Amino acid sequence: MANQQIKNERMEAIVSLAKRRGFIYPGSDVYGGLSGTWDYGPLGVTLKRNIMQLWWKMFVESRDDMFGIDAAILMNQKVWQASGHVDTFTDPLVEDLVTGQRYRADHLLKDKGFDVDGLSLADITQLIRDNDVKSPDGNELSKARTFNMMFRTFVGPMQGDEMTIGEPGDEASKKLAGKGNNLEGMKAVTYDPASVSYLRPETAQGIFTNYKNVVDNFYPDLPFGLAQQGKAFRNEISPRDFVFRSREFEQMEIEYFVHPDKWAEAFEALLADVHAYLQALGLPADHIHELEVPENDRAHYSKRTIDIEYDFPIGREELMGIAYRTDFDLGNIQRVAGKNMEYNVKGTNEKFVPHVIEPSFGVERALMAVLSAAYTEDEVNGDKRIVMKFPEHLAPIKYCVSPLLKNKPELVAKAREVYVALKQKHGNVMWDDNGNIGKRYRRQDEIGTPYCVVIDFDTIEKDGLVSVRDRDTTEQKRVSIDELVA
Ligand code: GLY
Repeated sequence: MANQQIKNERMEAIVSLAKRRGFIYPGSDVYGGLSGTWDYGPLGVTLKRNIMQLWWKMFVESRDDMFGIDAAILMNQKVWQASGHVDTFTDPLVEDLVTGQRYRADHLLKDKGFDVDGLSLADITQLIRDNDVKSPDGNELSKARTFNMMFRTFVGPMQGDEMTIGEPGDEASKKLAGKGNNLEGMKAVTYDPASVSYLRPETAQGIFTNYKNVVDNFYPDLPFGLAQQGKAFRNEISPRDFVFRSREFEQMEIEYFVHPDKWAEAFEALLADVHAYLQALGLPADHIHELEVPENDRAHYSKRTIDIEYDFPIGREELMGIAYRTDFDLGNIQRVAGKNMEYNVKGTNEKFVPHVIEPSFGVERALMAVLSAAYTEDEVNGDKRIVMKFPEHLAPIKYCVSPLLKNKPELVAKAREVYVALKQKHGNVMWDDNGNIGKRYRRQDEIGTPYCVVIDFDTIEKDGLVSVRDRDTTEQKRVSIDELVA
């Protein structure tokens, strides 16, 4: 079987398990779905939060040079004008000239084996023409053009009123329709340009806009970082590959402020911290690769970027990035908002705008890497088994507790006691008395529960010990209840 087919099957198996076992569902599914959106079920939300909390613990709580913040998603439009997102946060788009369907030009070319990194729109169009690249429906494609990925919205009551041009008595629409531009009968939206805002495409800007607040309140020594987790939105032309490229997602970002001469050492130190986090996520080291991003592929604000790529089942793709953003963003705030962003080194007259190193994670990509690393097919007693080998600290359920038989009140009562004690200690403990023990083990293996505890007749009649089964080895040990819940 071709390697790619095995990889695709593995990805499909993970997507299917994620839905079947309550990790991740397609968004708005009952209404036919909404492309590029995903919902998290009871196990998915816990797994995702465990990944995020681990990041918060390693990058914020356990350090004394980091401060957490949580900024608003909606920001003044000037933020995105100054940051360059209004002008340059774009992807190359082509249109199927027959169906009108739109595609990401670089993805169509990449799928055909072309390297498009750093190519201009004209180069992309030329490559399409020279190689007779067609749409997935086999039709001619338009020239490539840019498409801004920010979701635009309107804030306040001056937002987009919709009207039909040429509606009787509607002065504004009469004016529009009267210009001889043949728009009559079409829908138009009027809005006050000052009401425009965007769903943030990165959490980073909420950090830069709060830099001065935190400096004024806490006056930390350099270097120090501000960390934020939260939703971000990108109107992807073609969302794809499960949660890898979705329109609504979460980020975990740090802006680490440094003296301009000290950026290189801070970059290396943060890169090492990133690797420690990836290791704590349980990702195998041989699946992780550093890519030094060449200048023509870097974001407009970056002087150095390393992408950490991961061998996902869909192939080697970007997992996260660490970028040296110079003083680009604080400099923009100074220039556009006219506010001084200089840092005054304590006890001296030395003042400068700090430079910034930014490690930026997409939560869903980390989650997809964790799911891919955990997904294992093996054999137990000659039967195929699917088991999610999550690191114990990430597993959404820590223990499952069962009575051997659910129709024996004495077993059920003892099992409930153990369940309550474990739940008080760990929180995420599941009760399962459905089906036979073998079926329970299979279910728990598929959701990655590290330990299954069973209360049987020996527990009650003989030794007071319970059976604890290990997910990975399937071995069972007899353990005292006191030891288990200690
Ligand atoms: N802040 C960097 C990014 O969103 O990609």
